[in-house]
Amino acid sequence: MTAKPKVLISDKMSAQAEQIFKDRGVEVTVKTDLKPEELAALIGQFDGLAIRSSTKVTAEILKSASALKVIGRAGIGVDNVDVPAATKTGVVVMNTPFGNSITTAEHTIAMMMALARDIPQANLSTHAGKWEKTKFMGAELFGKTLAVLGCGNIGSIVADRGIGLKMKVIAYDPFLSAERAVELGVEKVELEEAFKRGDFITIHTPMTESTKGIINKAAIAKMKKGVRLINCARGGLIVEADLKEALDSGHVAGAALDVFETEPAKENLLFNHAKVICTPHLGASTVEAQENVALQVAEQMSDFLLQGAIANAVNMPSVSAEDAPKLKPYMKLAEQLGSFAGQLATADATEIAIEYEGQVSLLNTRPLTALVLAGFLKPSMEGVNIVSAPARAKERGLAIAETKRDKAKDYQTLIRVTIKGKDDSATFAGTIFSGEHPRIVDINGVPTESALSKEMLYVENLDKPGLIGALGTILGNAKINISDFNLGRIPGKDKAIALVSVDEYIPEHIVNAIKNISQVERVQLLRF
Ligand code: NAD
Ligand code: MLT
Repeated sequence: MTAKPKVLISDKMSAQAEQIFKDRGVEVTVKTDLKPEELAALIGQFDGLAIRSSTKVTAEILKSASALKVIGRAGIGVDNVDVPAATKTGVVVMNTPFGNSITTAEHTIAMMMALARDIPQANLSTHAGKWEKTKFMGAELFGKTLAVLGCGNIGSIVADRGIGLKMKVIAYDPFLSAERAVELGVEKVELEEAFKRGDFITIHTPMTESTKGIINKAAIAKMKKGVRLINCARGGLIVEADLKEALDSGHVAGAALDVFETEPAKENLLFNHAKVICTPHLGASTVEAQENVALQVAEQMSDFLLQGAIANAVNMPSVSAEDAPKLKPYMKLAEQLGSFAGQLATADATEIAIEYEGQVSLLNTRPLTALVLAGFLKPSMEGVNIVSAPARAKERGLAIAETKRDKAKDYQTLIRVTIKGKDDSATFAGTIFSGEHPRIVDINGVPTESALSKEMLYVENLDKPGLIGALGTILGNAKINISDFNLGRIPGKDKAIALVSVDEYIPEHIVNAIKNISQVERVQLLRF
């Protein structure tokens, strides 16, 4: 019986997650509020780590995570995970992008309404027995312009709710298509215009290099006097010091903030400002959203650890649970072809061209391409896998070309890998026999039908009699059993190749003896 995969839940999340892991056959440990050194000491035992936003998965933690295959974030933002470091170490990082969108959009609307009518301030004053009926003069939302910056999952729900409140909704999002804008009923505008026209400006972009500090002094200067700002996305999108200045001067009438530059925010320069209302990163905090994300993260991580299905990974193409079994034989073939190429092709490769023909071209080929790259790089790069291979290929300066043709010539389904170097190129192609058995069918134009085994010998030789006998004698004398022998002629040349499967590792002196056979031009040990 194979051992159950092990998952650590290191942040507080709905108990449903724990139950789902158990029901799916995953061993689960719950340990929250761990200090970084405690997490580092524990993480080595686990295949999966399920987190919300408290656990910080740094490159340092990842160094200790020798068995880790997947990090599951119950929520959207993965800014508490060092994704490039995870990718480099081959760990899949997945999130749950939709489970808390409605809840966060509703929080945004609640914050906008509270801001428009000073509800938190009026609540405090009333509880204090002040009855300040004239102090809190609000603003109506009806007919006002709501500018939505970032119109993705959450932004588009906020836009929809804004339209429901009879606001005029404008949106700035460079990736929002004109058709989608029409479908949502929003007017697509440029950033400057969103700043200029918004009575209420709400931000729903991810935190990236291009969005960090998007609302700063210069941006605020372009806004209407009396504008109100809402941030339920990420602290740091608004420059807090610039906001404070604009609130003090009265240019900004108020701000509603759920997120802060530094979190947990125990202190902040905007705290206790009369025009600022705050919540402690509560955007996703409803029972419904927390159940959604916990359930989804546990299902996704279990699917991955038990079946190899990949959903909502931020550093990997998706593979659905339905596609995973269909892709399985091709995944083996893709890695074998890459590995074959990596062991045989020249070291100065500059480009890898991968062609998918016939049945395989109809599948999701991105994971297959990642596996070809992983197989290719493995002989010369430590620790590379399906997750890290595309990034590491890029690091090495390899150009990747992928083409698909739904019709294949000689085989119903075929993957062809061509490695191009400065002065030469090498091609390897393979197919699947009987729906599950990978076979190499072409090595540099030489037709063959070879299964790859753990230990193999590749020989290029002059096509003259005597090779098989000489090779067989050397291996036989060394008591190395041959389990398969494939020969093929290089078209138009008096040369041939032999691909030989053997039962055990061939020591160097035997390889040298084979090299000395008169017909032999090249010998290479291959391991799969
Ligand atoms: P999303 O990826 O669905 O949408 C983000 C949108 O921003 C996309 O449409 C994208 O095209 C757009 N965008 C990217 N760069 C942009 C730029 N430079 N300018 C303008 N638009 C840009 O993400 P989402 O699920 O809608 O989440 C939005 C934000 O909310 C994220 O920052 C997320 O971390 C945060 N969030 C916060 C809470 C909370 O508790 N407060 C909860 C969930 C999500
Ligand atoms: C998220 O990114 O999903 C939110 O920040 C909510 C959270 O998990 O706290």
